Amino acid sequence: MDLSLIAKYDRAIPRYTSYPPVPFWTGAPTAAVWAQGINQHYNPEIGVDLYLHIPFCQELCSYCGCHRVITKNLSRQDSYVEALIKEWDSKVEQCFYGKDPRINSIHFGGGTPNFLVPENFERLVAHVTKGGKSSNFIGAVEVDPRTIKEGHLSLFKKLDLLRISLGIQDFDPRVQSEIKRNQPFPLIEALFQTLRSMNFESINFDLIYGLPAQTEGTIEDTFNKVLTLGPDHIAFYSYAHLPAKLKNQALIKESLLPRGVEKFKLFMRGRDVLKHSSYVDIGMDHFARPASPLSQAFLERRLQRSFMGYTVQKSNILIGLGTSAISASPMAYVQNEKDVKTYEENCMQGHVPHTAGHILSIQDKEAEAMIQGLMCHGEVSLTPAQQSNIEENLKDDLQEFIKDGLLDFSSGQIVLSEKGRPFMRNVAALFDHHLRERQGATTGPRFSQSI
Ligand SMILES: C[S@@+](CC[C@H](N)C(=O)[O-])C[C@H]1O[C@@H](n2cnc3c(N)ncnc32)[C@H](O)[C@@H]1O
Ligand code: SF4
Repeated sequence: MDLSLIAKYDRAIPRYTSYPPVPFWTGAPTAAVWAQGINQHYNPEIGVDLYLHIPFCQELCSYCGCHRVITKNLSRQDSYVEALIKEWDSKVEQCFYGKDPRINSIHFGGGTPNFLVPENFERLVAHVTKGGKSSNFIGAVEVDPRTIKEGHLSLFKKLDLLRISLGIQDFDPRVQSEIKRNQPFPLIEALFQTLRSMNFESINFDLIYGLPAQTEGTIEDTFNKVLTLGPDHIAFYSYAHLPAKLKNQALIKESLLPRGVEKFKLFMRGRDVLKHSSYVDIGMDHFARPASPLSQAFLERRLQRSFMGYTVQKSNILIGLGTSAISASPMAYVQNEKDVKTYEENCMQGHVPHTAGHILSIQDKEAEAMIQGLMCHGEVSLTPAQQSNIEENLKDDLQEFIKDGLLDFSSGQIVLSEKGRPFMRNVAALFDHHLRERQGATTGPRFSQSI
């Protein structure tokens, strides 16, 4: 790899979990317009995808960029669960005219979903699945290995929440201490073996590169430990360091942070260990064992991406419940209130807790499809109009990517090269008209570095 490319392409760019990214949203539709859009696009044969956000965590990790509230007071979940149920009831009333929709998938994210006691999981799942689950229902939970209990696991199996994602981040004790996330390898090993013995459908590990005190040596050790367990999927995220926005990150020692070429080498070292042991590089930051459904979907060009990551199936409607949760329809996005108390008050009064949103334009939808193509299949098929627009307006950028060997452009197709895969975010930015409109602006949203 030509290391001068790292300096050239290490820019502040969105991660494109949606298009347009949240900081470029222009305003939520009214509740009535939003509900009508959902109703028009709901297909009872497929159902809807549900995301439930549980914001509470018992301890603060200093690297954390998630929306969370730190508390040891477990009773805070009681009023929150009531509010989630109320929010669901209001949405069923407004969007589905009182008839519970079929559920295609449920994803519990956080914060820490297992802050909830098992009884509350059971209550929530029973309540939101009153309209039935689709035959190929997918249930997923993000789990904090330090606080998960046996009672949770047996209940997850009973509730068909069979995809477990473990927040690992790094196995090196020094790195764990620097990020205030101490979880010894034997703890993870024992949990992993329990999950395997209970036949959970898939186990994902979240790992991060670019954390304080990481070196190529520590990354190699961490990945060798990962391989001794052999999770089905691995998300290997670039550490997003935004201390001006995320106050907890001020606890991170800047002097210990690997940056630029040094950070990129950490990614490449982890990626190489995985590739040598036949994990498939399925997309941005994500790897999967060859036999896993995600790898198969990638190889058969069926892979899709949602706000929660890569998936083999998604409906065209996502309903987000809980603080900061995002909902999506083919027409618009909306995001919920972030403050727990205000969110709970809104829900209990029957008000829609949306505070932000965006109505998708035709141009947004085109850009979204191109970015999805790139992130899921490593290529984009262009219509003649898109091709001439790119040739006219983005020729210089495109030529630069071609010259650097990151992509090929011919006969209506942009295809990422192997060398270009780590720069997927940079190429995606080519289609981002909102970002281009703001080029050169000194104020506005701040994004994490692409590397
Ligand atoms: C939304 S968090 C919730 C997971 C869970 N609370 C846990 O940490 O065990 C999901 C993942 O986001 C990733 N993450 C959190 N903060 C990050 C940051 N600043 N940069 C990159 N990834 C981050 C971590 O890998 C984490 O496991
Ligand atoms: S990383 Fe996970 S457990 Fe740690 S504070 Fe953030 S959401 Fe909570």
